[in-house]
Amino acid sequence: MNDEIITQDSLPILASMQDLSIDVVITDPPYPSPTGLFAEHLIDGIAGLYLCAKKAKKHVIFFWSPLVDPPRPPPGWFHTATHIWHKPDGKTSISYELIIAWSRDYHRQPHKVWSIPILDYRTLKDWKQHPTQKPLRLLRYLVEDYTAEGDLVLDPFAGTGTTAVAARQLKRHFLAIETNAEYAEFAKQRLQPRTDPAVEQPSPEEPTTVPAARSKPKVKR
Ligand SMILES: C[S@@+](CC[C@H](N)C(=O)[O-])C[C@H]1O[C@@H](n2cnc3c(N)ncnc32)[C@H](O)[C@@H]1O
Repeated sequence: MNDEIITQDSLPILASMQDLSIDVVITDPPYPSPTGLFAEHLIDGIAGLYLCAKKAKKHVIFFWSPLVDPPRPPPGWFHTATHIWHKPDGKTSISYELIIAWSRDYHRQPHKVWSIPILDYRTLKDWKQHPTQKPLRLLRYLVEDYTAEGDLVLDPFAGTGTTAVAARQLKRHFLAIETNAEYAEFAKQRLQPRTDPAVEQPSPEEPTTVPAARSKPKVKR
């Protein structure tokens, strides 16, 4: 099941997977938001995260809203970092999202802040009609920080496959699952070999590292 985009509901697939068969989960699940986006899938998002914790050997990394408490890690897991993705081109009053790290090892990690535009694309070829497509550069940072070359990375809420693209670029294996056939098709297209390698190769930029106590910026709501 390596290097695949599967067009299906991820919950039954997760349930049937062998425990500890994945190295790291990096995902952007449907989470509660004032806009009601993906409202019909909110329980899938939370259930999926807990199932992921049974399947992952090292970390479960997930995006979450700053407006709602994130789910607590299950027994045997620790909440080891809260990172921030700041969106300089965000149009809403809350222009950041949290990235939560659950780890099997209790090893507190530096909290990072990445300031990356939502529309961080070299060309429009990489932009897809998805309401929450994440910048590839951000996913590359997460893959680099939490995985090693050759690891198997799972994204059970894959959308347009940004995690999978980052994993492939950084020589990791991936398994990406998306229930919406149109989004899964975008993801497959993005993974096709490109003639212009610059299209999906954003220039690396160092994130800002902040001390744990100052992990949340004071954003006016
Ligand atoms: C927040 S979006 C992910 C966007 C992605 N990070 C990207 O860069 O394109 C969450 C995705 O989860 C998908 N989804 C919701 N419930 C699902 C389920 N049970 N199984 C698989 N995918 C699901 C939605 O269709 C949506 O595309």
